Amino acid sequence: NPSDMPSEAGWDRSLALLREGYTFLPRRFRQYRSRVFESRIMLERSLCLQGAEAVRFFYQPDAFTRKAAIPPTTLKLLQGRGSVQTLDGAAHRHRKAMFMSLMTPASRARLIEVFSEEWLRRLNRWQAEESVQLLTEAEDILCRAACRWAGVVLPEEEAQSFGRDLAALIEGAGSIGPRNWRGLMSRWRADRRLRAVITDIRRSGREADTPAKVIALHRDLSGKLLDVATAANELNNILRPIVAIARFIAFGALALHDHPAWRERLAKGDDAELEAFTHEVRRYYPFFPAIAGRANTPTAFTGCPIPMGRRVIVDIYGSHRDIGAWQQPERFLPERFLNADIPDAFLPQGGGDHFTGHRCAGEWITIDVVKAAIRHLTTSMRYEVPPQDLTVSLRRMPAKPESGFIMSRVRSVE
Ligand code: HEM
Repeated sequence: NPSDMPSEAGWDRSLALLREGYTFLPRRFRQYRSRVFESRIMLERSLCLQGAEAVRFFYQPDAFTRKAAIPPTTLKLLQGRGSVQTLDGAAHRHRKAMFMSLMTPASRARLIEVFSEEWLRRLNRWQAEESVQLLTEAEDILCRAACRWAGVVLPEEEAQSFGRDLAALIEGAGSIGPRNWRGLMSRWRADRRLRAVITDIRRSGREADTPAKVIALHRDLSGKLLDVATAANELNNILRPIVAIARFIAFGALALHDHPAWRERLAKGDDAELEAFTHEVRRYYPFFPAIAGRANTPTAFTGCPIPMGRRVIVDIYGSHRDIGAWQQPERFLPERFLNADIPDAFLPQGGGDHFTGHRCAGEWITIDVVKAAIRHLTTSMRYEVPPQDLTVSLRRMPAKPESGFIMSRVRSVE
């Protein structure tokens, strides 16, 4: 009965959302004993949903647009204006096909090859250091690998600062104030650099077939090249999220540390176990808190009417811990993904179809990279984990192990 739907839409809850972080939505679903409630968030009435049925509903083809669904300050740090995520219908499918053409097995294998090269090169340096912070090291490795893979040539003295700028975009997206402003500065610098990359490729036309070239020379449905700012933005939309994978790598290292039996198990190199472990890292640890969209047509969820244009928010973190969908969701149990269908309530990178919907274009790359990193952590090297603050605060978006995961006495294993 729609009139029974819990509603707290009278008062804007944005400050509570910032204060409570990942727990904001799940706490309310629990409190209202409902998988749907209405709230006023970011100055707007929003319908919040959780669980497998919500995911199936939200990911019906073309049901929800991402246009103007998140605040402009967040959009600016993440996908940006004119990006694939802001498109709908045929224009979206066409642009998405361009992204998915970069995700073939051969292209992904090439990324993993350069990622492993960069990791092993860095491992040599780690051996000379007393201790290293995995999160920032992985961000730097991933930025170099992403640029090499994508065909973005950076002089050595710029590689590190470019990586820091991309990391600042991810850091700034979940906050207001200084972290967000730092992100906006980084956005400005990264955009300027990537616009130059696009312009160079278009001028010279002699680069090999790299992702940067695919984006630079992509034509929209009317046969036109993307404007330079949009093309640069889409190039950023493959580089920045590759750097973001560093968070899952840090969480993976934390999981190995907390579950030594799994470290032993994975060292044997069974691919299915490695993949199950990677899925569990993506389920268990908080990253994207939620996905927002707006109804493209009037619709209804379990009897609650949703007018056209209404903002709907699907809880990712809470869906991953929904007792209706998971057994013992509070425990880290990679076994749940072994020889089992992947539940609908699993949406670390969105749900539905990669090609026709908005599901993350880089999900396969993410899985490949995390697996490769876990393989290195368990078989290419030894390290100690000195005392440090490994807590993961649910109030901080995006979350991370507080210390960034420090490793000491790193040694490579031949
Ligand atoms: C979309 C998460 C990595 C490229 C998304 C969405 C989420 C997400 C939640 C939105 C889904 C929706 O709107 O329904 C993540 C997480 C990552 C990650 C947690 C881990 C680091 C990547 C990588 C790439 C990438 C590595 C590219 C190399 C994209 C693109 C979209 C997207 C292009 C927009 C797709 C569309 O609107 O059709 N991602 N992502 N992401 N992601 Fe990722």
